[in-house]
Amino acid sequence: MSASPLTGKRIVLGVTGGIAAYKAIELSRRLVDAGAHVVPIMTDAAQHFVGATTLGALASEPVQTELWNNPTTPIPHTKVGQGADLIIVAPATAKSIAAYRMGYSHDLLQNTLIATRAPVIVCPAMHTEMWEHPSVVDNIATLRKRGVHIVEPESGRLAGGDMGAGRLADPATILGAAERILGPADLTGVRVVVSAGGTREPIDAVRVIANRSSGKQGYAVAAEAAARGAQVTLVSTVGLPTPAGVQVIAVETAAEMQEAMERAAIDHDVIVMAAAVADFRPAHAASGKIKKRDGVPEIVLQPTPDILAGLGANKRDDHVLVGFAAETANLVDNAQGKLERKRLDLIVANDVSAPGVGFAHDTNAVTLLRPGAKPVEIDLATKRDVARAVIDAVVDIRNAR
Ligand code: CTP
Repeated sequence: MSASPLTGKRIVLGVTGGIAAYKAIELSRRLVDAGAHVVPIMTDAAQHFVGATTLGALASEPVQTELWNNPTTPIPHTKVGQGADLIIVAPATAKSIAAYRMGYSHDLLQNTLIATRAPVIVCPAMHTEMWEHPSVVDNIATLRKRGVHIVEPESGRLAGGDMGAGRLADPATILGAAERILGPADLTGVRVVVSAGGTREPIDAVRVIANRSSGKQGYAVAAEAAARGAQVTLVSTVGLPTPAGVQVIAVETAAEMQEAMERAAIDHDVIVMAAAVADFRPAHAASGKIKKRDGVPEIVLQPTPDILAGLGANKRDDHVLVGFAAETANLVDNAQGKLERKRLDLIVANDVSAPGVGFAHDTNAVTLLRPGAKPVEIDLATKRDVARAVIDAVVDIRNAR
């Protein structure tokens, strides 16, 4: 299994003075978890919002704040930027964006930004009025033209209870952007569609037949594919945070998922069915709520279409078709049967009865099966690590053609 593209990378995390500075601490922790060496820099204003001790404790080294008398290095204005593999400014205030645009190097962060050849990600966070002000719009457009990566703010609740665009992007989205920049880019230009989550089949207006799938493994596959340069569509039944660079199509039932996947198969190269699709649905869903006083209802079930088998039957030669197999016994034999019956290029089999594996967990342990190849076992790992192994196999299949 290949390592995260952030492993061993030196990432400067610049934190400027906005209320969202507290989220930079979570971002720092996640970057460190992914194997990066995080060098934190805070502006004076940032220290009004969070303490350097807190950020330093969750980064890889103490926070640097000083251009003068910096205890870490005698020449901080160039050393930090020269040594970086990537610089992330999160949150980036209107003032820090303006300074960066002008090359106005009044503090350690701004010096670092203009003394680097590393890629830079700017993650703005400010009130909607400021984000939409022509000066900020113009500064952002100029930075973009220069090749700076902008992770746009989200819409939602802002400081003081205001609503609108300007909230710092989710740390997962910023992490995804970093992985995209530092990753191998071996799926550049490839279109990947992934299904995720469990389908919900209506019984009546309020009740559904559902399953335990959380969608986390499918989202991790989508995030990994996007990080490696693919154009990714996620057909999802759940509302997890959208990974960076991924387009989500929301569906609920097996029928809706089938329609979305069959349409996507026309113009996507790699199809991954990570969703847990209901095998049976109520033959008739009541339009209103079934009332208790009418007695115990009899729910007649009918089979749903096997979406993956249908995609396999109509598979193009250039498609890579990936399925999952959730098993509780005879893992490899059952998965091998599905691989052949559904005409797959790869099946990701997991024993969902094992501890820490499958539904709802953040970890998974899987066996990867390909036609004519020996099974490959991936021991208990994060779902993102498993996703990396799945995408490694997809790249391998494409390269072998
Ligand atoms: N799948 C599908 N449509 C269905 C059922 C399953 O597309 N109606 C896909 C799943 O997304 C998964 C693969 O088929 O990629 C295997 O799903 P799984 O539930 O493990 O197996 P089933 O084919 O449903 O067989 P069984 O229930 O007998 O294990």
